[in-house]
Amino acid sequence: MSKRIAVLVSGGGTNLQALIDAQGRGELVNGRISAVISSTPDAFALERAKNAGIPGYVLPRWDFSDSRGYTAALTRLLRETVGADLVVMAGFMTILTEELFQAYPNAVINIHPSLIPSFCGVGCYGLHVHEKALEYGVKISGATVHFVTEECDAGPIILQKAAEVLPGDTPEVLQRRIMEQCEWKLLPQAVSLFCQDRLKVEGRAVRILDCL
Ligand code: GRF
Repeated sequence: MSKRIAVLVSGGGTNLQALIDAQGRGELVNGRISAVISSTPDAFALERAKNAGIPGYVLPRWDFSDSRGYTAALTRLLRETVGADLVVMAGFMTILTEELFQAYPNAVINIHPSLIPSFCGVGCYGLHVHEKALEYGVKISGATVHFVTEECDAGPIILQKAAEVLPGDTPEVLQRRIMEQCEWKLLPQAVSLFCQDRLKVEGRAVRILDCL
């Protein structure tokens, strides 16, 4: 039985598109994108879902007074309406509380645009990540796919991929290079490994099992 994948989005949805394209190439082994849930009604990611024939839902963050209430509603939607086996945060910009991670232990994954533990944590998201990398003067950066826990960007690391930082890079140019060379490759790979039950969490480490 293939696993049902729910993708959480808030913006442009280029990582969602990478998952949709990978699915189209048969690369999401034993997984199917069953829903896209956005925290904002105008996210272009919802257009991408519609074009791919994937049910889209909007759960506006501002409809809830706090993160806990929002997380409870999202968790209900995921479990009762979508029946998700895997939750993928792809450019999702809303803080969630522990209820989701308790409902989905080691079944929520996130893509972060740096080599964690560099340039991550509360407030370090989107373009800010690349601004900090350039400010620090690193020669390589990249992306990380990790399991999501209560602590921001600190869950067990599943996959990482590096990309060069080049002279004259702006945050936008570096972001695009990391998206193209890292994010859009790593996320489908990690999702496919999860759906094949090939990810084994051992403390902080994630072991990738050979084909079962
Ligand atoms: C990407 O850099 C992603 O790593 C970060 O949000 C940015 C936009 O993602 N989490 P997307 O284009 O909405 O997938």
